Amino acid sequence: MLEDQPPEFPVSYEDLKKRAREELSDEAFAYVVGGAGSESTVEANDRAFDKWQIAPRVMRDVSERDLSIELFGREYPAPVMLAPVGVQSILHEEAELAVARAVSDLEIPMICSSVSSYTIEEVGEELGDGPGWFQLYWSSDRDVAASFLERAEEAGFEAVVVTLDTPKMGWRERDIELGYLPFLEGEGLKNYFEDPAFRNRLDGDDPWENEEAAIASWQECFGDASLTWDDLDWLRAQTDLPIIIKGVLHPADARKAVDQGVDGMVVSNHGGRQVDGAIPALDALPDIVDAVDEAVGSDNDVPVLFDSGIRRGSDVVRAIALGADAVLLGRPYALGLGIGGEDGVRAVLENLLADLDLTVGLSGCASLDDVTRSTIRRAD
Ligand code: FNR
Repeated sequence: MLEDQPPEFPVSYEDLKKRAREELSDEAFAYVVGGAGSESTVEANDRAFDKWQIAPRVMRDVSERDLSIELFGREYPAPVMLAPVGVQSILHEEAELAVARAVSDLEIPMICSSVSSYTIEEVGEELGDGPGWFQLYWSSDRDVAASFLERAEEAGFEAVVVTLDTPKMGWRERDIELGYLPFLEGEGLKNYFEDPAFRNRLDGDDPWENEEAAIASWQECFGDASLTWDDLDWLRAQTDLPIIIKGVLHPADARKAVDQGVDGMVVSNHGGRQVDGAIPALDALPDIVDAVDEAVGSDNDVPVLFDSGIRRGSDVVRAIALGADAVLLGRPYALGLGIGGEDGVRAVLENLLADLDLTVGLSGCASLDDVTRSTIRRAD
């Protein structure tokens, strides 16, 4: 139902970006919207959706729509979750706590980044019974990685999303030109600075008192470019939580991941922030879904999630039609946080969910089972 006043908060992604450009610092804006290199993959991610068109069906009783999904034994009201976004304090002082408050009423899962500006425990507490997953940047210091996993499980997070496309940060020209990276300030690394295993690296130094040395130590151990598939056995031994790998773009990797026993995967190019010129994540999705189906056989299920370029309900429909079980939303909610804190995140999510519900129904689908490859066709 339309209200008689225009909404206070921007509705379209384009307007969100425009408002953020006006209200955020140059550094914060560049951090969110930027990508690797020429940003060709950021643009390609958006354009990839236009290559698929919905062929709506009519006369199919869509008076009641059910958008719910089940993942790892828990039911969620919609196939949407919030992607891990690091160092949210650059966007808003309440950062991840504001996001946790916004999502927990909606029962939409939040994926808390390893580089969160509040600790895993603080975010977990704010989430309460609301669903939360933890995203691991797999530190080259195994004690730090193990400590993060243990803390996440203790704090009530229900799954681990391990990001494999970022053993090192991509070449992000906007950030380099501004001479600014949020990770190079102690405030952005609280979750590490408060971690007992990370503190052990500092020979008794307090990271808050000697920030420079602590940041240098963090740079040394942030990621691990030497990882190979066999290392997943180590990860499996550290946690009982489902393990979902993030950053899969090649069907051969999807098959390998299934063979290694992962519980799920996210097809993602990290929003175009890692490899400039990388394949748009949506283009990678159908082949990966087929590869996973073939590798798991009929008795098993390894959910395939998707991110990179989701802006509207019709984008979600297209990703689901191409075989995704759910999607992750990145920049839109980060911009919402920057503009309006908790209310901003809630507004972005409510708009997306309302748009999705309408678009599913108007496409002739009463549930997500009805959204299949026959719901869409390749544009000429
Ligand atoms: C990210 N992303 C990300 N991913 C991750 O695994 N850990 C992280 O800490 C971050 N941090 C982060 C910060 C910012 C500002 C952005 C925009 C993205 C990637 C994120 O989880 C997701 O893959 C993309 O954002 C999805 O693309 P869209 O929706 O932003 O196009």
